[in-house]
Amino acid sequence: MGKILFTGAAGQLGAELIAELRHRHGVDSVLATDIRAAEGILKEGPFELLDVTDEEAIRAIIKKHDISQIYHLAALLSAKAEKDIPLSRKLNIGSLHHVLNAARDLNIERVFWPSSIAVFGPDAISNGTPQNSPCNPTTVYGINKLTGEQWCAYYHRVFGVDVRSLRYPGLIGYKTLPGGGTTDYAVDIYHKALAGEPFSCFLQADTMLPMMYMEDAINATLKLMDAEPEKLSIRTSYNVAGMSFNPAQISDSIRKHIPDFSITYEPDYRQNIADSWPNSIDDSTARADWGWKPSYNLTAMTKDILEKLPGYFPVLSENL
Ligand code: SER
Repeated sequence: MGKILFTGAAGQLGAELIAELRHRHGVDSVLATDIRAAEGILKEGPFELLDVTDEEAIRAIIKKHDISQIYHLAALLSAKAEKDIPLSRKLNIGSLHHVLNAARDLNIERVFWPSSIAVFGPDAISNGTPQNSPCNPTTVYGINKLTGEQWCAYYHRVFGVDVRSLRYPGLIGYKTLPGGGTTDYAVDIYHKALAGEPFSCFLQADTMLPMMYMEDAINATLKLMDAEPEKLSIRTSYNVAGMSFNPAQISDSIRKHIPDFSITYEPDYRQNIADSWPNSIDDSTARADWGWKPSYNLTAMTKDILEKLPGYFPVLSENL
């Protein structure tokens, strides 16, 4: 196998997924790239600056480093996408085309591209949203993700590009920070709680959203990428679920460990984004096709984060 090219390496998922890929395949087998300079553990292996909106630059890096797999994670998250439609199209959709074209033309074996539960809008069945529920997203981010999913399916069907995708729920980890997303509150809340500070939440107390602990997200991603191609019945993007909770429930789970923790609610424009998304996801197709199963619920995740975060200095990465 050639090397793995990873874009958006400095994002919330990047550093953690790269660490696991390097652990499995060897440090030198994963080339991390980002538009920002490497920090933290990204410095511990090969790294190059890469602007994924530059198609030629992507192709040059693939050729230079003998790349055979691509994890294309560079993107603008939902809250930021709402504020900059042109950039979100260029980055979230334009760069996907560059990667899919390169995969087709340069014999890339496998591509991973993240989608999101944001593909579902208010028309979707909101509890236990099925794989093939009506989508009709109402957010910029969701529209781009749904479009991207269809391009992935097209490139697989027409050109045989082996591109695979997951509809991630909100991802929660303690090693990195998200930036510009609607589910970010569920990461920030742990930092405030451990600092002994009150938390002001930009969503209402009862806003239920699908979420997933980072360990489960990494496991799901690598399991999907390891699966035999003939097992995959979905070539748009797989629903995957971890847990669902609202801000009141996550603060209750924190209060079991830190009884003085307090939360207030000051919803802003992100409330509309969250309200358009499902409460919970049906991931039975992922379970049946490639054996997906999450390990963490809210109680287990809160315990793990509150134990491990104090000894950890997160990579302070504000996503684009
Ligand atoms: N977690 C992402 C966001 O909030 C959605 O996929 O933007």
